[in-house]
Amino acid sequence: MTTKIAVLTSGGDAPGMNAAIRAVVRTSLHFGFAVSGVRDGYNGLVFNNIEELDRSSVANIIQRGGTILGTARSSDFETAEGMDKAKKVLVERGIDVLIVIGGDGTMRGAKQFSEEHDVNVLGLPGTIDNDLYGTDFTIGFDTAINNALEAIDRIRDTAASLERLFFVEVMGRFSGFIGLAVGLAGGAEDVLIPETPTDVNALANKINESTRKGKKSNIIIVSEGDEAGNAFTIAEKVKDCIKEDYRVAVLGYIQRGGSPTANDRILASKLGFAAVEAVQKGIKGCMVGEVDKKIVFTPFEDTYKKKKKIDPAIYKIIEILAT
Ligand code: F6P
Repeated sequence: MTTKIAVLTSGGDAPGMNAAIRAVVRTSLHFGFAVSGVRDGYNGLVFNNIEELDRSSVANIIQRGGTILGTARSSDFETAEGMDKAKKVLVERGIDVLIVIGGDGTMRGAKQFSEEHDVNVLGLPGTIDNDLYGTDFTIGFDTAINNALEAIDRIRDTAASLERLFFVEVMGRFSGFIGLAVGLAGGAEDVLIPETPTDVNALANKINESTRKGKKSNIIIVSEGDEAGNAFTIAEKVKDCIKEDYRVAVLGYIQRGGSPTANDRILASKLGFAAVEAVQKGIKGCMVGEVDKKIVFTPFEDTYKKKKKIDPAIYKIIEILAT
């Protein structure tokens, strides 16, 4: 009997998801497996929206952002009834293995589905946030930081010309990987992220000191999930203690779109390939990631319960290079 694999993308879309779908489909066909695509995340399982894929279904998508399968944060799948329906659909269609591509919410769903409904599930890390344990990088992160960086460079031009202070908000509700990376690469004066406490007075002093030293522009990167508030809130909190005019720029969804970078396409292709190889070896119940250039398998629960740590050394570098 031919092994049947189904693939879906779930949660926030991330550039490189299409490259991962392509790799899953083409590797499956290479090994003689049948493969189908589930529409709109876990919703497609609940509502039986699944279509068979072949080589040509994934032609010309490696360079495309978003996800050709559509995605969703499915509340229907979270209910016991929804999961039962999803399981029935898999059984009726004879699907043996489900490959899910997404972030922490996707991995939570995968754990519950695989354990409570006895389904073979494998995960691939696909989120711009890079906040999954068990992989050095998630698919989409590299594109997101490059998108953000391009915008920050442009903001720097206008900030320097008008000698202005900018608060630039980047994505990351629960994590500061994007903030820290673009803070370093963009030469920011400071970076505020959810993982570290924000001292608003210290920030104001830093800005004043930087201006006193004659800096023409100051850019403060704020992760949207910083515990002191978003970029507007933080700017409001420091405004009475600083002497200069400021502007706020929220980069938002621009970070999540566009053609994936080479790094994201390479990572997505390697992980998609590795996931199907894992199917062949009978590996299940885990996320396929890359750590120190090696493929690793991490139980679903660890991917979101064990916190991937930010590198505090980066903070130090940002501080030293900004002075
Ligand atoms: O998880 C990816 C992400 O882009 C976060 O950085 C952001 O906080 C969130 O998704 C936005 O979610 P939504 O697309 O539901 O607005």
